[in-house]
Amino acid sequence: MWFPQYRPRRLRRTEHLRRLVRETRLSPDVFIYPLFVRPGRGIRQPVASMPGVFQLSRDTAAMEAQEVRDLGIPAVILFGLPEKKDERGSEAYAPDGVVQEAVRAIKDRCPDLVVITDVCLCEYTSHGHCGVLRGREVDNDPTLEILARIAVSHAQAGADMVAPSDMMDGRVGAIRERLDAEGFPLTAVMAYSAKYCSAFYGPFREAAESAPQFGDRRAYQMDPANAREALREIQLDIEEGADIIMVKPALAYLDIIRRVREEFDWPVAAYNVSGEYAMIKAAAANGWLDEQRAMMEVLMAIHRAGADQIITYFAKDAARLLASA
Ligand code: PBG
Repeated sequence: MWFPQYRPRRLRRTEHLRRLVRETRLSPDVFIYPLFVRPGRGIRQPVASMPGVFQLSRDTAAMEAQEVRDLGIPAVILFGLPEKKDERGSEAYAPDGVVQEAVRAIKDRCPDLVVITDVCLCEYTSHGHCGVLRGREVDNDPTLEILARIAVSHAQAGADMVAPSDMMDGRVGAIRERLDAEGFPLTAVMAYSAKYCSAFYGPFREAAESAPQFGDRRAYQMDPANAREALREIQLDIEEGADIIMVKPALAYLDIIRRVREEFDWPVAAYNVSGEYAMIKAAAANGWLDEQRAMMEVLMAIHRAGADQIITYFAKDAARLLASA
C-alpha cells in the first residue's frame, strides 16, 4: 500500500492521535540527577558554565535531594570537591570525606532515594588526573587499590551504587571483589564502560574543579573514532561484575548507545554530559532556540537510541515539564 492509499499524516493529525501511536515515552523514572558537593554549610554556589547547577554543601545537597525525590526522580549521583587535594587523592576515601558525609545526610533525609557515587580520583588529585602518576603517566594497577578503597568507603556511608568513571583497566573487577570481601555484596556497580575522551566535559571540570593540570585524558579515556572498542569495553565490564553499563557522552554517541542496547541484555545508562547541557542553555539564553523543546528532544533521542537510564542536569526541569503535560 502506497500513496494515495497510505497517508502517514493520518496518525499525526491531532495530539491525541500522536499520543496514541508514540513509540518512546519519557518518564522521570529514567533520570539520574548529578549533585556536586563541597565542604561547609549552607552553600549554594552557582557554576557559571552550567546555569541552574550549583556546588552544594551536605545540608543543601540533602534539601536538593528531597526536591529531586518529590519530583519523582529515583536517583542522584554525587561528585565531590574535597577540602584539599594531594598526589594520591587520599581525601577520596576518607571516612568523613565530602561525598561520604553527603551520602549520610541525603540518606538521613530521603532513605528511599537511590544514591549513586562517582568513583574517580580526578577531583581529589593535585594533578587532576584520574589515577596516580608514575612520571607523567597514569599508573593503572596501583590506582585500582585506591578506587576499591573509595568504593568501600562510599558503601560504608550508605551508597546504593558506585560508579567508577576513571577508565582504568580492571577497575570494575577490583571494586566488585573488594565490596564483596568487605561485606557489601548488594552494593551495585554502574560502570562508565564506554567513556570517550570528549570536549563536552568542559563545564563539568569547572563544576568539579577537576581539570588535568598537564596533558589530557587520551591515554585512558576512549578515542571518539572507535565503536567496536566500546563493545569490548562493555563486555569486559560485564564479565568483571558491572550491574549497569554506561555510554558517555550521549549525543555524539547515539550510535554507540544503540549498538550496545542491541548487543547486551544489561541495563544501559547514558550520560547527557555538561557540555551538552551548556550548549542548549547558552543557545537558549541568546534566544537562538527554545530551551524546553530542545531539552525534551535531546532526552527523547537518548531514550529512543536505547538508554534505559539518563544521567542529566535537565532531570528536574524535564520532570516538572512531564508532570505538567
Ligand atoms: C570524572 C568525571 C568526568 C565526568 C564525569 N565523571 C569528567 C572527566 O572525565 O573529565 C564528566 C561529566 C560531565 O561532563 O557532565 N572522571
